[in-house]
Amino acid sequence: MTIKYQDELSLAVQAARKAGRLIRDKLYRHRVTETKSCLSDLVTEVDREAEGCIVRLLKQYFPGHAIIGEEQQGNCTGEPGGNMTWYVDPLDGTTNFVFGVPFCAVSIALADHGVPVLGVVHDPLREETFTAVQGAGARLNGSTISADKSIATLERSLLVTGYPGNIANRPRMHQINYRHVIDCCNNLRALGSAALELAYVAGGRLTGFWEVSLRPWDVAAGMVLVQEAGGTVSNLVGQPLQIAEDVDIVATNGLIQQELLNCLSWRNELPTVGVS
Ligand code: IPD
Ligand code: CA
Ligand code: CA
Repeated sequence: MTIKYQDELSLAVQAARKAGRLIRDKLYRHRVTETKSCLSDLVTEVDREAEGCIVRLLKQYFPGHAIIGEEQQGNCTGEPGGNMTWYVDPLDGTTNFVFGVPFCAVSIALADHGVPVLGVVHDPLREETFTAVQGAGARLNGSTISADKSIATLERSLLVTGYPGNIANRPRMHQINYRHVIDCCNNLRALGSAALELAYVAGGRLTGFWEVSLRPWDVAAGMVLVQEAGGTVSNLVGQPLQIAEDVDIVATNGLIQQELLNCLSWRNELPTVGVS
């Protein structure tokens, strides 16, 4: 059987590791921190350099593909949503990086006609590369991984979430009753890199993840990982996830998906605002 997207996978891994070396070299040594949508939405020269190095490689080997990178949104090449579109988050976890918390990742995904089919999430500080291709399973440094099927209830689950960098979206997040969620599960984490948190759900280290007001490059790679690891991904009302401009996501080992959705009881009354 021929497995599709193998050339794309090798290049995405190569690009993620190259950008990862840059991030590792600059941790604790980066110079300039700027802000984007608000004071808490940070960007560094490392975000831009890492994205430049990934985009150059993708353009060189796949000149016909569209590329949407977080830091050059207005400047992407090709036609997003067309046949083949790359989603690049060169440094997911910039706030951790800036503060010196060693938890961040490079996230690269490929979507075919709008459906994410390939995901690479690379943790440059632990040298862990999570990869998945639609229909071919998920791997960590080449070894097969799967979501943790030994946990079937929320009360035994270790959950993870995140808080929007753009403070304008925090009222959306506050629609969730955190006290209720914490009372229903083993415990709740917020580790600061959506892509790596999704990879941890795929690898069975965490049972479930949710976050509101994310962007396609935060989740596209991680969603392929979770699905290929046997987990389930949906929006906050349990419908299939679309890689639109704004993403509300729930991803679990599959067994607790419905119980987590019930617990979150999402009744959204506010739209996502601004771009972060
Ligand atoms: C952020 C991280 C974080 C999440 C934020 C994202 P960035 O991405 O994924 O975990 O909570 O909502 O914006 O800005 O570090 O690439
Ligand atoms: Ca991100
Ligand atoms: Ca980023």
